[in-house]
Formats: sequence, C-alpha cells, structure tokens
Amino acid sequence: MKNNETLTLLDIFLEQPGEFLSGEEISRRLSISRTAVWKQINKLRNSGYEFEALPRLGYRLTEKAVPLDPALLAKCVEGHSFGQQMELLDSTTSTQEDARRLAEAGAPEGTVVIAEEQTGGRGRMGKKFYSPYGKGIWMSIVLRPTQPLHLTQQLTLLAGVAVRRAILKTTGVEAGIKWPNDLLIEGKKVCGILLESATEDDRVRYCIAGIGISANLREEDYPEELKPIATSLRITSGHNADRNELIGSILNEMESLYELYNEQGFEPIASLWEAASVTLNREVSVHSSRGVLKGTAAGLHSSGALLVRNEDGELVPVISGDIVLQPLNETR
Ligand code: BTN
Repeated sequence: MKNNETLTLLDIFLEQPGEFLSGEEISRRLSISRTAVWKQINKLRNSGYEFEALPRLGYRLTEKAVPLDPALLAKCVEGHSFGQQMELLDSTTSTQEDARRLAEAGAPEGTVVIAEEQTGGRGRMGKKFYSPYGKGIWMSIVLRPTQPLHLTQQLTLLAGVAVRRAILKTTGVEAGIKWPNDLLIEGKKVCGILLESATEDDRVRYCIAGIGISANLREEDYPEELKPIATSLRITSGHNADRNELIGSILNEMESLYELYNEQGFEPIASLWEAASVTLNREVSVHSSRGVLKGTAAGLHSSGALLVRNEDGELVPVISGDIVLQPLNETR
C-alpha cells in the first residue's frame, strides 16, 4: 500500500475493488476538499473510468463500458480532416461493408464507420474477427490513394504505425508491430488491421483500412480458443481505455502519417515501422497458399513486403501470409 503522500484517488478505489467509498472518507484520506474529490472523479470519468454514485454510500468504480459518443468523437477530431464524415452504428455485419458502400457513393477520404459490435467481423486470409458489443474498437476508414495497387501494402504498415502511436499516446501501453498488420503486447494480439482495395484495371479506386482493437475486453470475455493468443488494453493496463479518445487519436495519427506519406513517400513510414517492429531480425516461418517459408526476417522491401532470408541465404520478398515468430533463443 502507498503512503498518504503518493496515494491517488484511483489507488484508493483500486485497493477496495467494487466497494463504495464516501466523498468524506476520500477527502480525509487524500487531505483534499470534497469539491476536489468530485473534480478528480470527473477527470477519471473523462479518461474512461466508470463510477456509480449513490446518495448515502458514495462512489464505486464499476466495470461498465463507456459508449461511443458522436459528440465526444467529433471534439477529438476538431480541426482535422479525417473523421469529419462519421457513421456510428450500434450493430453491423462488418464496418468494411458499410465503408465500402459509402466509398462507392463518393464518400471523401477520411470517412469513417465505427460500430459497437460486428456480427460478421472479418480478418485477413478469410478469418473471422471477434468483435463483441461495447468492448472494442471496430472501425473502417475510406482512403483514396493515388499510388498503384502493388504499393497499397504500404498503407497497411502506415495504419499499424498510426494505431500503435495512438494507443501509446492515449493509454501509455506500448505495442509492437508484427508484419504486416498485427499489434502485439507481450506476444499476444491486441489489434488487427485489414486493408481492402477496390480497383479498376491497375488503378486503385479506393481502399478501406479496417482496424480492430481489443480495448476493454476482460480475460473472461474471450472464447477459449482466443485466450492463449489474444490480449486487450484493459488486461494490460488494468483499466478501461477511453475508446472515444483512442478513436480520435487514431484518426489524427492516420491523417498526419498519410500526409507525410503523400509528401515524402514510404521511406519515413518504413523507418517508423522498423523502429516499432517485433518481426525484424527474428526467426520466422511464413505460412501461405504457397507453403511454408522458413528464415530470418531481414528487412522491409520498398514496396512494404517483408524480406525473409531463407536457409540458402537468399532474400525472398513476402507479400502475404501468416508469420509465426520463432521463440527467441535464451541468452546464457
Ligand atoms: C486481422 O487481424 O486479420 C485483421 C482484422 C481486422 C478487423 C477489423 S474490425 C473493423 C473492420 N471490419 C471488419 O470486418 N474487419 C476490420
């Protein structure tokens, strides 16, 4: 237990999970006024913590998820261009489909669809993506890149960097990027990114960048098969993430990296990606329809492909596939 000088209001609640604490008791323990207690509680509420308040009992930290809020979201993207057109849905099959419909109807770049729940969320390589109600961030952004189709892989990496930065800024949690699109915390997946493109000949008409983040799931919220491989921001940090703030930050980071990409090309994005990568210099096996390739992840190709040095010492560019990271050798 901390001493009184370093004790915060949050510590007091976390020490007695699920219990009511009166304003009077908190003010006594922290040596602050009742008004200051109330202000601090409101500050925590704005950061995503949920408090129940009852007249004679006081306050209790609860687990309830904070809903997505159009007004809060709009405030987070004020003065920016991404997120100015926003569709917020309670339940949908997949936000990829909704964003595609909007893009076909001419929606501008940066249009976003966000849902509380997806009943048919999808991941890469035809996999399902678990997207339960109120606990995550399931969002799709319309992009209209001018680059040719074979370079759209770069946007997947750009989105990974943007989401990683937004998570770090708003929650303090540091995730690593596994090529091409997974964000990992201690080896477990916290976010997946799916980039889908609509083309005409070799021209990209639009791309939909789908982002799925396990924000506020608890261990018991996952189906058995995901428990060993998935984690959430909540499990990592011990408290709910403010999803409205995180979404706003993702849109702002996406917008500024996308501007950088359009002005200076892929190089600066590749450097940021490399610095955050947990794939590079690791022994990997790449599983794809062409079989299994084993080797060392040696670097990024200028197209965004992963360069794997195979057992014969040749550099093989990998443009799709599932990467399995081999365990790190123990240092003696
Ligand atoms: C993956 O991990 O393979 C990619 C997962 C992408 C999931 C997001 S959630 C929002 C958007 N809608 C979907 O159906 N998929 C993406």
